[in-house]
Amino acid sequence: MSKPVDQSRMDRIVSLAKRRGFIFQSSEIYGGLNGFWDYGPLGVALKRNLKECWWQDMVAGHDELMTIKGAPSAYEMTGLDCTIIMHPQVWKCSGHFDLFHDWMVDCRESKRRFRYDHLQGKWATYRNLKAFISTDVSGDDAEPDLVGKAQKFFKLRAKQVGEIEWSGNLVALAGNSPDDSIPLSEAVAPDASEKGTLTEPREFNLMFETRIGALAGGKDDRAFLRPETAQGIFLNFKNVLDTSRVRVPFGIGQIGKSFRNEITPRNFTFRSREFEQMEIEFFCRPDDSRAWYQFWRDRRWQWYLNLGLTEGRLQLREHHEAELAHYSRGTADIEYAFPFLADGEYGELEGIAHRGDFDLRSHMEGKLVRENGELVLETDSDGKPKYRGSGRDLSYFDDVSRERFVPHVIEPSAGADRAVLAFLCDAYHEDSVPDEKGNPRERTVLKLHPRLAPLKAAILPLVKKDGMPEVAADLYRRIKKRMPCMYDAKGSVGRRYARQDEAGTPWCITIDGQTMKDQTVTLRDRDSLTQERVPIDDCAAILTERLV
Ligand code: GAP
Repeated sequence: MSKPVDQSRMDRIVSLAKRRGFIFQSSEIYGGLNGFWDYGPLGVALKRNLKECWWQDMVAGHDELMTIKGAPSAYEMTGLDCTIIMHPQVWKCSGHFDLFHDWMVDCRESKRRFRYDHLQGKWATYRNLKAFISTDVSGDDAEPDLVGKAQKFFKLRAKQVGEIEWSGNLVALAGNSPDDSIPLSEAVAPDASEKGTLTEPREFNLMFETRIGALAGGKDDRAFLRPETAQGIFLNFKNVLDTSRVRVPFGIGQIGKSFRNEITPRNFTFRSREFEQMEIEFFCRPDDSRAWYQFWRDRRWQWYLNLGLTEGRLQLREHHEAELAHYSRGTADIEYAFPFLADGEYGELEGIAHRGDFDLRSHMEGKLVRENGELVLETDSDGKPKYRGSGRDLSYFDDVSRERFVPHVIEPSAGADRAVLAFLCDAYHEDSVPDEKGNPRERTVLKLHPRLAPLKAAILPLVKKDGMPEVAADLYRRIKKRMPCMYDAKGSVGRRYARQDEAGTPWCITIDGQTMKDQTVTLRDRDSLTQERVPIDDCAAILTERLV
């Protein structure tokens, strides 16, 4: 079966990412490590630019003197950089120790492990034999994959495949309850040759464990790599209040690595085991929290659009009541239609959650659970707190209204790697442009926003003689002081343009015979393909102006 168009598009994006040094498999020379990715020379620049845009637009460049359109009031923003390993009690109080898990099943035959909720399939009958054929492949590839698996299970030749009777729709193996789940005894696991090889689902905590200290070994020495950056912000809430002049409402932003031992990392960098998050914890008065939630949803949505993601491939999805975490009073996801997903499916880029006072209270009082609609301290069989909080007072005293309260939290939580992947996928285009002789030439181009582009410009001497390389090198040095750029004198100008188009470089500057006469150069625009003649001395200023 041929692959659907978008999967082959995804394959081409992955291939470009590797070929041009954006993203490599981690530890590749040792066969790779599933769920871990390295960023190459162009990739590291792209990712740094993305994080820098976020930091500048959300934190460093925020103007606290004005009220942004849609915001209930002006607000302040500040930043933090917390450790990856924190006190183990943090994760007990936050709920991650008990609740941050996925269900997994193992196949006794293939020895493969699957996320239970990622297996799906269909009932199939051949002659008198019936089975639920399952696959871990998602999107448009799932159904063709099932056909191949059914052929293998029923031991059929290709021409007999049409005799298989399929019933019902493609459904998940795991239902909402054990009663509407597919009986495991009837399921044929992916890569298994018989039914009933899957184990009962088991919980698998996604936090990576480590041990602290040379003499570590006991159960209590266990520590965890953070699965989100957010908790470090809550722990430092009081420190920030006491050491800076911020007043509620204000936000604290942080960018950093997070780790999740995902059972089935997949879809390139989309679900990785080590990734970076860009999170804001925004602290506000309980009465205003709903309005701030709306504000952050819109502000974060607009951020992706401003950096050029195609609006038609984005969606803002408000969670249904049943989907909400027990502490959440509202969550919306910003999702992108990644090419590895079937038509109509979206993958999460960012979640914006209204978390109420859950986090600050958890770190004051201890682990909270919801009972009769209220968050209460979870207790053990002796009636004692299951996990004790810090006991520190994390409430806030408003010296204008003379009120004390525990601020509510709005959390816009984005993934840097997922955003890089979305921007790469969105920027990837294949088109045809005229070459030097006017003949059409196929090109692959990354139409990245100039702020995100790894290189902003390439400086190209037309030929390696007549003084052109010297003039080009001088211009290169002048521009490089202001922005990342590249000097390239190798090959025809057409080939050099093609190399820059693939790298997403927005502008190419060519130094030619005319430059030597009148000190002008051609400035080529990657997307419009226009070529304008501009004075060489104006180049740096023109690019700086366009780089917004
Ligand atoms: N503090 C809230 C929190 O961590 P989340 O929805 O679990 O919420 C936030 O994660 C964002 O982090 C996601 O929207 C996604 O962009 C990114 N993310 C989460 N797990 C990831 C993974 N395994 N690989 C890459 N990015 C991930």
